[in-house]
Amino acid sequence: MELPVIVIGGGGHAKVLVSTLLLCRRSVLGFVDLNPTAPPMLGIRCLGSDAAVLSHAPGDVQLVNGVGSTGSAAIRQDVYDRFTREGYCFATVIHPSAIVAPEVKMGDGVQIMAGAILQPGSSVGSNAIVNTGAIIDHDCVVAAHAHIAPGAVLSGGVRVDSGAHIGTGACIIQGVSVGAASVVGAGAVVITDVPAGVTTVGVPAKTIIRTLAPNLR
Ligand SMILES: CC(C)(COP(=O)(O)OP(=O)(O)OC[C@H]1O[C@@H](n2cnc3c(N)ncnc32)[C@H](O)[C@@H]1OP(=O)(O)O)[C@@H](O)C(=O)NCCC(=O)NCCS
Repeated sequence: MELPVIVIGGGGHAKVLVSTLLLCRRSVLGFVDLNPTAPPMLGIRCLGSDAAVLSHAPGDVQLVNGVGSTGSAAIRQDVYDRFTREGYCFATVIHPSAIVAPEVKMGDGVQIMAGAILQPGSSVGSNAIVNTGAIIDHDCVVAAHAHIAPGAVLSGGVRVDSGAHIGTGACIIQGVSVGAASVVGAGAVVITDVPAGVTTVGVPAKTIIRTLAPNLR
């Protein structure tokens, strides 16, 4: 039997997850938020701050990471790491309208949102998001904590490393890699490898910000 879930976070991404969980007929105990007295979300009540999770034993509930990201995945990853260390498990959430080839491998806590398509040979690492309407074609690797934002397209054989963000509507051509913690801006078209720790935008995509020293890339 599936365990009841607690959603971490009370923002927009959390709301979409609550909606998806209810559609999947999961039992949602509540959500926790920085504002411990936040109003109910889609009829689901706020249980308090993050500490409220600890009143439920790890074996009695599953968690859902409702912290979204528009660039850096650091806060989202921190939530996942912190509660995993405490012994909690993160539920995998797959919207019923997503098309996921049976061969796709997924880590725990993966979130596949409405209308996403994932083709065979691809894998999605723990705590990663494949957001609304995104397309992951064949043989792609989406590493842990990465976020493929709404409408983004990965052609075949693309690699997206840990914590990278592929912005809304961006396209990555076949066989290209995006390095860890890099950000691909909304609408970008990536035609060459992107190193770790940079922000790249435009058509074709060009690097505008480097957040890691060259020797760390
Ligand atoms: C790329 C991005 C992270 C840059 O954000 P930022 O670091 O705050 O940068 P700024 O907004 O200061 O922009 C810096 C420059 O890049 C340009 N720029 C920013 N985003 C751009 C984009 N997506 N495409 C083209 N140019 C872009 C700006 O016009 C600006 O140019 P200028 O210096 O000539 O004025 C952000 O614009 C973006 O696209 N984020 C993705 C959002 C997303 O995917 N959301 C999904 C939520 S689910």
